Amino acid sequence: MSRHPLTFQVLAQCKTTKAKCSLMTLPHHVVETPVFMPVGTQGSLKGIIPEQLEQLNCQIMLGNTYHLGNRPGPDLLESCGGLHNFMGWPRNLLTDSGGFQMVSLLDLAEITEEGVKFKSPYDGSECLLTPERSIEIQNAIGADIIMQLDDVVSSTVSGPRVEEAMHRTTRWLDRCLKAHKRPESQNLFPIVQGGLDPKLRTESAKQLMEREVAGFAVGGLSNLFSGGEGKDQFWRMVHLSTDLLPNDKPRYLMGVGFATDLVVCCALGCDMFDCVFPTRTARFGCALVDSGQLNLKLKLFGQDFRPIDEKCDCSTCRRYTRAYLHTVATIETVACNLITVHNVAYQLRLMRNIRESIMNGTFVEFIFNFMDTMYPKKD
Ligand code: GUN
Ligand code: ZN
Repeated sequence: MSRHPLTFQVLAQCKTTKAKCSLMTLPHHVVETPVFMPVGTQGSLKGIIPEQLEQLNCQIMLGNTYHLGNRPGPDLLESCGGLHNFMGWPRNLLTDSGGFQMVSLLDLAEITEEGVKFKSPYDGSECLLTPERSIEIQNAIGADIIMQLDDVVSSTVSGPRVEEAMHRTTRWLDRCLKAHKRPESQNLFPIVQGGLDPKLRTESAKQLMEREVAGFAVGGLSNLFSGGEGKDQFWRMVHLSTDLLPNDKPRYLMGVGFATDLVVCCALGCDMFDCVFPTRTARFGCALVDSGQLNLKLKLFGQDFRPIDEKCDCSTCRRYTRAYLHTVATIETVACNLITVHNVAYQLRLMRNIRESIMNGTFVEFIFNFMDTMYPKKD
C-alpha cells in the first residue's frame, strides 16, 4: 500500500529487454512512461509556452528550484498557490533540488556536510543551499515530484571523494525526508550516486532502497555525453542501477536526452528522462530528425522548400519550410520558438513510438530500425 501521491501501474514488459510501458498517476494527471520531460528554467520553457506544450500532449515538465527560488521566490509562489497556478500549467511538474545546477554552473560552489555554498550570480552574496532549504523551496513551488539535494561529483573524478559524496547523499536524503512538509501532495525522489564505481553504485542503491519512497533517480551520469568509452561506462552504470532498483517504482535517469540514449536506456529499464538538449540545440538553429540533426543555419537550407520533417505533424512542420526557418533562424528569435516546438514534438513522438512498440511486443524491431536510420551503413 502506497502512502505517496503516485501510483505506478506496469502495462507491458518487453520480453527481451528491461523496457516496460506503465501508467504513472500523479496529482496533475496520468503520465504514460517511458516519458521525456522537457526542461523549463524560469518557470517557462525557453522558446516555448505552456500552451504549446499542452498541444504537444506533454504530461510533465521540469521546473528549476534554483532559478525559481530567486525569482519569483518562494513567498510569491506560496501566496499564489504554487508554480502550476503561477505559470498557467495545469499538468505535472518536477523540480530538481538545485545543487547540481549550482555545481555544474558555478565554479565557486563549495560543498560541506551542511550543504552547497555558493556566491549568488544575482547579487554576489554568499548563499547556502541546505537539504532543508531545498525542500522548503520545492514545497513552495509545489511540483508533483521533487528531488533530494544530492552531492554530485563529476564522473571524471575518482577516489575517496566519490565515496564521500555517495554516503553524504544518503545522509542528505534523510534530512530532506525529515524536512518535507507536503508528502501527501508531493513525491520526494532519492538519487543514486556513486560515480562509475559498481560497488559504490550498488551500495548507494541499497541504502536508498531502505527508505520509504515512491520512485528513484539515477544521477551523476549526465555529463558523459562523449562517445566511445564514455558511453560504454555510462550504459554499464545505468544497467547496474536498474538491476538493483525495484521494477514496480519509476526509475528516473537524470539529464539524459539524446535520442540514442533514450532508446538504449529504455531498453535498460529507465522510465523517466529530462534534458535541456532539444530546447538548447533549437536555439542554435538545430532541428532533430530521425537521421540526427539539421543545422538550419547552413546555407544549403536557404533553397530547401520542404518542412523540417515531412512526417512530423507539429505546428512548425505543417506551416513552415526549411528555407523560411533558415532565413529567420539567422536573424530572429521567433525561429527559436518554431524549432523548439518541433524538437519537443520530436522527443515526445520518439517516446510515444517506444511505448507503442513495447505495448505491441515489437520494441526490439523498433531498436533495429531506429539504429539503421540514425547510423546508416556507409559503403
Ligand atoms: N541532473 C543531471 N544529473 C543530476 C544529478 O546527478 N543530480 C541532480 N540533482 N540533478 C541532475
Ligand atoms: Zn515538426
